[in-house]
Amino acid sequence: MSDATITVLQGDGVGPEVTEQALRALRAVEDVYGHSFAVHQGLVGLDAIAAEGAAISDATFEMCARSDAVLFGAVGGLPAGGGPDGGPRPEQALFRLRKEFDFFANLRPVRSSEPMYGASPVKPEYLKGTDMIFVRELSAGLYYGRLESVPGKPSEIRRTGRGTEAVDTLLYTEQEIERVVRAAFEIAERRDRKVTSVDKANVLSSSVLWREVVEQVSHDHPAVDHEHMLVDTCAMELIRDPARFDVVVTENLFGDILTDEASMLTGSIGMLPSASLGTRRVEGGLFGLYEPVHGSAPDIAGQDRANPVGAVLSAALLLRHSLGLEREAAAVEAAVEEVVRLGYRTADVHESGCTVVGTREMGGLIRETLVRG
Ligand code: NAD
Ligand code: IPM
Ligand code: MN
Repeated sequence: MSDATITVLQGDGVGPEVTEQALRALRAVEDVYGHSFAVHQGLVGLDAIAAEGAAISDATFEMCARSDAVLFGAVGGLPAGGGPDGGPRPEQALFRLRKEFDFFANLRPVRSSEPMYGASPVKPEYLKGTDMIFVRELSAGLYYGRLESVPGKPSEIRRTGRGTEAVDTLLYTEQEIERVVRAAFEIAERRDRKVTSVDKANVLSSSVLWREVVEQVSHDHPAVDHEHMLVDTCAMELIRDPARFDVVVTENLFGDILTDEASMLTGSIGMLPSASLGTRRVEGGLFGLYEPVHGSAPDIAGQDRANPVGAVLSAALLLRHSLGLEREAAAVEAAVEEVVRLGYRTADVHESGCTVVGTREMGGLIRETLVRG
């Protein structure tokens, strides 16, 4: 009898390479701690489009729904664009999973670890103490706008008498803001009790409402300090003084962009994990989707060069948030720290004096460290 059911969607490009290493970490956790996880694999992205005609089929979606958690690699590989009226795009799998499971809170922790300071383009004296978590709103905003003219359609490119124009809409309801802001304050209560809410309230109405809601929610969390910061300032502060941040909450697109920027504090986008959560409960915690922050990285796919750490740390978040296995999650994180401390690095975070290893060897080192305890 298994302790939990996990659906694994490896996806495109480096997705299968890094997910394989995350699975090895989960298998090591099974061996060391005496668990048994039922793992089911499904198609997503380009392979799913080729085989099933959609970026994620109904059958695969149902398999996710029957699981405690979904471990996701990456999707993508088609040239950008094509327009909303084009054929299926691999990224649609993510939108479907996020929307239909109502994953509104996307947690993206960013921590600079001392042995890796040299891998970041930011000077070590600025990195000291950097330990923050982004709470990116994931269910609304520009990704899911609503056209007044065409209900159900988020965006369009249209020909008019004046020429061609394109429209995306940024719409948030008070409830959509409130639930993610509440999540951020609750997380802050378990951390350093500071929330930075990031918006563009000097320009956008959705941000003016966002600020109002943050003020309201803050009254329920008197022990948590909060501040408002404009998104352009935040982009600067992330480099100028990253250690000032604890919990950062922001709308969907701002969070997407700022977290890629923040990844450079760790040295590589390949280092960052994420958890997408809603409200549905499973036995060990919350049903969730776990994936590295990076994409399919077509430029390095198939070369055993991808950094698997973001995927492995995503598996740690899965253990923590969906399976309720805190000790096991911490062990995976500690194993990653240890391998890095010993100087093993994939090429993206390599520095002189370190040993360059490939994706598989990095995963093997993490596995061995976990098994050794
Ligand atoms: P990307 O994150 O795939 O790659 C950006 C850069 O970072 C590339 O130089 C790549 O080599 C490097 N990189 C990414 N992951 C790495 C890793 N694990 N180790 C070492 N280096 C790594 O972003 P992109 O190139 O802009 O997008 C490629 C495709 O991925 C697009 O189709 C995009 O839509 C998709 N994408 C998917 C996801 C997802 O599945 N969640 C996220 C981001 C982008
Ligand atoms: C991410 C990605 C996705 C996003 C893309 C692939 C749709 O960049 O998960 O960060 O923008 O949300
Ligand atoms: Mn992104």
